Amino acid sequence: VEQSYIMIKPDGVQRGLVGEIISRFEKKGFVLKGLKLFQCPKDLAQEHYKDLKEKPFFPGLIEYITSGPVVCMAWEGDGVVASARKLIGATNPLQAEPGTIRGDLAVQTGRNVVHGSDSPDNGKREIALWFKEGELCEWESVLTPWLVE
Ligand code: GTP
Ligand code: MG
Repeated sequence: VEQSYIMIKPDGVQRGLVGEIISRFEKKGFVLKGLKLFQCPKDLAQEHYKDLKEKPFFPGLIEYITSGPVVCMAWEGDGVVASARKLIGATNPLQAEPGTIRGDLAVQTGRNVVHGSDSPDNGKREIALWFKEGELCEWESVLTPWLVE
Protein backbone atom coordinates (compact mmCIF):
# COMPACT_ATOMS: atom_id res chain seq x y z
CA VAL A 1 0.00 0.00 0.00
CA GLU A 2 1.13 3.54 -0.72
CA GLN A 3 2.82 5.50 2.07
CA SER A 4 3.70 9.18 2.46
CA TYR A 5 6.26 10.80 4.71
CA ILE A 6 4.58 13.72 6.46
CA MET A 7 6.56 15.96 8.79
CA ILE A 8 5.42 18.77 11.07
CA LYS A 9 8.23 21.31 10.84
CA PRO A 10 9.70 23.13 13.90
CA ASP A 11 7.30 26.09 13.53
CA GLY A 12 4.30 23.73 13.65
CA VAL A 13 5.63 22.15 16.84
CA GLN A 14 6.46 25.51 18.48
CA ARG A 15 3.07 26.95 17.52
CA GLY A 16 1.17 24.09 19.14
CA LEU A 17 -0.27 22.78 15.87
CA VAL A 18 0.77 19.12 16.27
CA GLY A 19 -2.65 17.84 17.32
CA GLU A 20 -4.50 19.89 14.71
CA ILE A 21 -2.28 18.66 11.86
CA ILE A 22 -2.33 14.99 12.89
CA SER A 23 -6.10 15.24 13.27
CA ARG A 24 -6.59 16.29 9.66
CA PHE A 25 -4.90 13.14 8.34
CA GLU A 26 -6.70 10.93 10.87
CA LYS A 27 -10.11 12.37 10.01
CA LYS A 28 -9.46 12.02 6.29
CA GLY A 29 -9.09 8.26 6.81
CA PHE A 30 -5.40 7.52 6.36
CA VAL A 31 -3.64 5.10 8.70
CA LEU A 32 -0.73 6.20 10.90
CA LYS A 33 2.12 3.67 10.71
CA GLY A 34 4.94 5.67 12.31
CA LEU A 35 5.20 8.71 14.61
CA LYS A 36 8.01 10.37 16.58
CA LEU A 37 9.18 13.72 17.93
CA PHE A 38 12.74 14.17 16.67
CA GLN A 39 15.56 16.70 16.67
CA CYS A 40 16.85 16.48 13.12
CA PRO A 41 20.64 16.57 12.63
CA LYS A 42 22.00 18.84 9.89
CA ASP A 43 23.23 16.01 7.63
CA LEU A 44 19.79 14.37 7.58
CA ALA A 45 18.09 17.67 6.69
CA GLN A 46 20.62 18.15 3.87
CA GLU A 47 20.00 14.61 2.56
CA HIS A 48 16.20 15.05 2.75
CA TYR A 49 16.28 18.32 0.77
CA LYS A 50 19.29 17.39 -1.45
CA ASP A 51 17.38 18.27 -4.68
CA LEU A 52 17.26 21.89 -3.45
CA LYS A 53 20.94 22.22 -2.51
CA GLU A 54 21.72 24.74 -5.30
CA LYS A 55 18.85 27.06 -4.26
CA PRO A 56 19.71 30.38 -2.56
CA PHE A 57 17.33 29.56 0.32
CA PHE A 58 18.94 26.15 1.02
CA PRO A 59 21.12 27.22 4.01
CA GLY A 60 18.11 28.96 5.57
CA LEU A 61 15.94 25.90 4.92
CA ILE A 62 18.45 23.65 6.74
CA GLU A 63 18.63 26.13 9.66
CA TYR A 64 14.83 26.15 9.85
CA ILE A 65 14.33 22.38 9.75
CA THR A 66 17.02 21.80 12.40
CA SER A 67 15.96 24.74 14.64
CA GLY A 68 13.83 22.57 16.94
CA PRO A 69 12.07 19.22 17.07
CA VAL A 70 9.96 18.00 14.16
CA VAL A 71 7.19 15.38 14.19
CA CYS A 72 7.95 12.56 11.75
CA MET A 73 5.03 10.51 10.45
CA ALA A 74 4.38 7.68 8.02
CA TRP A 75 0.80 7.70 6.73
CA GLU A 76 -0.67 4.88 4.63
CA GLY A 77 -3.59 4.52 2.23
CA ASP A 78 -4.49 4.32 -1.45
CA GLY A 79 -3.58 7.64 -3.04
CA VAL A 80 -2.15 9.04 0.19
CA VAL A 81 0.77 10.87 -1.48
CA ALA A 82 -1.29 13.07 -3.83
CA SER A 83 -4.12 13.46 -1.34
CA ALA A 84 -1.77 14.58 1.44
CA ARG A 85 -0.29 17.21 -0.91
CA LYS A 86 -3.83 18.52 -1.46
CA LEU A 87 -4.60 18.53 2.27
CA ILE A 88 -1.31 20.41 2.88
CA GLY A 89 -1.85 22.99 0.10
CA ALA A 90 0.50 25.10 -2.03
CA THR A 91 4.14 25.65 -0.99
CA ASN A 92 3.44 29.38 -0.52
CA PRO A 93 0.81 29.58 2.25
CA LEU A 94 -0.53 32.87 0.84
CA GLN A 95 -1.45 30.95 -2.32
CA ALA A 96 -2.71 27.85 -0.51
CA GLU A 97 -6.50 27.41 -0.58
CA PRO A 98 -8.48 27.96 2.60
CA GLY A 99 -9.28 24.56 4.05
CA THR A 100 -5.74 23.31 3.47
CA ILE A 101 -3.24 23.12 6.35
CA ARG A 102 -0.97 25.84 4.93
CA GLY A 103 -3.97 27.88 3.70
CA ASP A 104 -5.48 27.91 7.18
CA LEU A 105 -2.40 27.99 9.41
CA ALA A 106 0.57 29.72 7.77
CA VAL A 107 1.64 32.89 5.91
CA GLN A 108 5.17 32.35 4.53
CA THR A 109 6.93 29.77 2.31
CA GLY A 110 9.89 29.71 4.69
CA ARG A 111 7.57 28.82 7.62
CA ASN A 112 5.00 26.54 6.00
CA VAL A 113 4.54 24.17 8.97
CA VAL A 114 4.43 20.81 7.22
CA HIS A 115 6.15 18.62 4.63
CA GLY A 116 4.59 15.97 2.41
CA SER A 117 6.30 13.57 -0.03
CA ASP A 118 5.82 14.55 -3.69
CA SER A 119 5.70 11.02 -5.22
CA PRO A 120 5.15 7.43 -4.00
CA ASP A 121 8.84 6.69 -4.69
CA ASN A 122 9.90 9.67 -2.58
CA GLY A 123 7.43 8.52 0.10
CA LYS A 124 9.36 5.24 0.33
CA ARG A 125 12.74 6.97 0.18
CA GLU A 126 11.88 9.51 2.89
CA ILE A 127 10.28 6.99 5.28
CA ALA A 128 13.44 4.84 4.97
CA LEU A 129 15.55 7.96 5.59
CA TRP A 130 13.69 9.24 8.69
CA PHE A 131 12.67 5.98 10.41
CA LYS A 132 14.87 3.14 11.63
CA GLU A 133 14.08 -0.59 11.51
CA GLY A 134 11.38 -1.37 14.04
CA GLU A 135 10.05 2.20 14.36
CA LEU A 136 7.06 1.58 12.08
CA CYS A 137 4.06 -0.39 13.39
CA GLU A 138 2.33 -3.02 11.29
CA TRP A 139 -1.33 -2.82 12.33
CA GLU A 140 -4.77 -2.85 10.77
CA SER A 141 -7.24 -0.10 11.64
CA VAL A 142 -10.75 -1.36 12.54
CA LEU A 143 -12.05 1.67 10.61
CA THR A 144 -10.70 0.45 7.24
CA PRO A 145 -13.85 -1.53 6.30
CA TRP A 146 -15.85 1.65 6.99
CA LEU A 147 -13.60 3.72 4.75
CA VAL A 148 -12.83 1.35 1.86
CA GLU A 149 -15.44 -0.89 0.17
P1 GTP B 1 7.88 20.21 1.18
O1 GTP B 1 6.62 19.41 1.39
O2 GTP B 1 8.45 20.76 2.45
O3 GTP B 1 8.90 19.46 0.34
O4 GTP B 1 7.39 21.51 0.36
P2 GTP B 1 6.97 21.58 -1.16
O5 GTP B 1 7.10 20.26 -1.83
O6 GTP B 1 5.65 22.27 -1.20
O7 GTP B 1 8.07 22.59 -1.75
P3 GTP B 1 9.57 22.26 -2.24
O8 GTP B 1 9.86 20.81 -2.15
O9 GTP B 1 9.75 22.94 -3.56
O10 GTP B 1 10.45 23.06 -1.17
C1 GTP B 1 10.76 22.45 0.06
C2 GTP B 1 10.67 23.49 1.16
O11 GTP B 1 11.68 24.46 0.96
C3 GTP B 1 9.37 24.30 1.18
O12 GTP B 1 8.32 23.66 1.85
C4 GTP B 1 9.82 25.53 1.94
O13 GTP B 1 9.88 25.28 3.36
C5 GTP B 1 11.23 25.72 1.41
N1 GTP B 1 11.22 26.64 0.26
C6 GTP B 1 10.87 26.38 -1.01
N2 GTP B 1 10.97 27.49 -1.77
C7 GTP B 1 11.40 28.48 -0.94
C8 GTP B 1 11.70 29.86 -1.12
O14 GTP B 1 11.59 30.41 -2.21
N3 GTP B 1 12.11 30.54 0.00
C9 GTP B 1 12.24 29.96 1.22
N4 GTP B 1 12.63 30.69 2.26
N5 GTP B 1 11.97 28.66 1.42
C10 GTP B 1 11.56 27.93 0.36
MG1 MG C 1 8.84 19.07 -1.69
